[in-house]
Amino acid sequence: MKINDEFVVKIEKLSNLGTGIAKINGQVVFVEKACPEDEMKIKITKVNKNFATATPIEIITPSIHRIKPFCPMQNVCGSCQLQFIDYDYQLELKKQIVEDVIKNIGNIDISINNPIPSPQIKAFRHKIQCPVSQTKVSKKILAGYYKPQTHEIVNIKYCPIQPEICDKIIDFIRNKSQDFNITGYDEKKHSGDLRHIVLRSSSDNGNILVTLVINNTKISDKFNSFAKAIYNEFEDIQGVCINFNNKKSNVILGEKTQCICGNDFIYDKILDKTFKIGASTFFQINPKSAENIFQYVKNEISKHENPTILDAYAGIATFGITVSNIAKKVVSVEENKESIEKAIEVIELNNIKNVELHCGDTAKYLKSIKKNFDITILDPPRKGCTKESLDETLNHTKEKIIYVSCNPATLARDLKYLSEKGCKLKSIQPFDMFCHTFHIENVAIIEI
Ligand SMILES: C[S@@+](CC[C@H](N)C(=O)[O-])C[C@H]1O[C@@H](n2cnc3c(N)ncnc32)[C@H](O)[C@@H]1O
Repeated sequence: MKINDEFVVKIEKLSNLGTGIAKINGQVVFVEKACPEDEMKIKITKVNKNFATATPIEIITPSIHRIKPFCPMQNVCGSCQLQFIDYDYQLELKKQIVEDVIKNIGNIDISINNPIPSPQIKAFRHKIQCPVSQTKVSKKILAGYYKPQTHEIVNIKYCPIQPEICDKIIDFIRNKSQDFNITGYDEKKHSGDLRHIVLRSSSDNGNILVTLVINNTKISDKFNSFAKAIYNEFEDIQGVCINFNNKKSNVILGEKTQCICGNDFIYDKILDKTFKIGASTFFQINPKSAENIFQYVKNEISKHENPTILDAYAGIATFGITVSNIAKKVVSVEENKESIEKAIEVIELNNIKNVELHCGDTAKYLKSIKKNFDITILDPPRKGCTKESLDETLNHTKEKIIYVSCNPATLARDLKYLSEKGCKLKSIQPFDMFCHTFHIENVAIIEI
């Protein structure tokens, strides 16, 4: 097999990165934009030792699960990779991905629960970070998303996975910038004014916080006036901020943010608790689907009477806070100082007395204490937990670990380690937070 060779294949499965898997003479080929059961003509684009990659050139017999994507830009925008597959089948495929990964990496045979769907499959995204540039000749502002694997902006006027008001705000910014002499950012030359539009929208009350990320270190009159114009145009906007980022880097937000109009935060709710969200606060992108996870974890904890809980990798202590009223005591550990500061505000806002916060590394914190917890909640980043933090978790947990994971591969690796240490995996429940992508969140219940 070599580059540019053409084959007719039947797609067997979806890989854990969302590409179709076909086999040619036993060799695995990853095919982009493919749905299991498609019969397609493909062209090889890369050949490696253990696998090849390919692009489709003709769909001969489409899978019965192919649908017309509801977004007209789906084919060019990199955000909703699986939108051409019907939603129920997306969920089936994601379940299969979890099953395969847990078996192949974790060496664990367990029947995975059916994924809990997202309550909304449109307008579910509440954090929007839109890169900005401008056209070469007419200098018109472009704002949207990147084409897959590029930094080329697709100028998106209508994005059905975000609330409609966000399209309107972005369009206003796009159309009015020139009136204020504001230019779009040129990444190659590191020139131009406006780099990103960041919107945080409340799933509870529809309020919006707008942040304009500018290629500067201080505010100019034109941005002051522009911020006011944006604020005055939309009733739902609670505040307009300017974030300063003049670094040559892909990091979206700079360190400093200045509020120009209104507030520099909005409120959102998870279960019965209120959260305060600023431009850079970590908060679930799909809060309504996240609420299902928090409820599930709470139900699991309510099987225990008045337990003590460790909430590790806590972020702004969302788990600790949402389960606090059924716990004797919660200790939330998070290494990011800003998140801890936000958690303090949220704890005060909700008048919670039994959540204690610790800023630092999970393993180091556990090594430094003698006390044990009835239940530990682990919600690490995509890279999963370190062996050291799993060991310390085992040393300090009496009954149960609830492991919340956004990456099935690292979850599988960590479950393998825990089972080698004698733990018993009771269940894995997937939740669909990122509809139309290959991503899937899982909650594993582990008995010690
Ligand atoms: C997936 S987020 C958890 C979010 C949080 N549980 C929530 O639902 O809002 C992972 C968090 O782990 C934190 N983190 C990463 N490594 C850590 C470590 N070694 N010890 C403590 N926190 C860590 C990150 O700063 C991040 O806030």
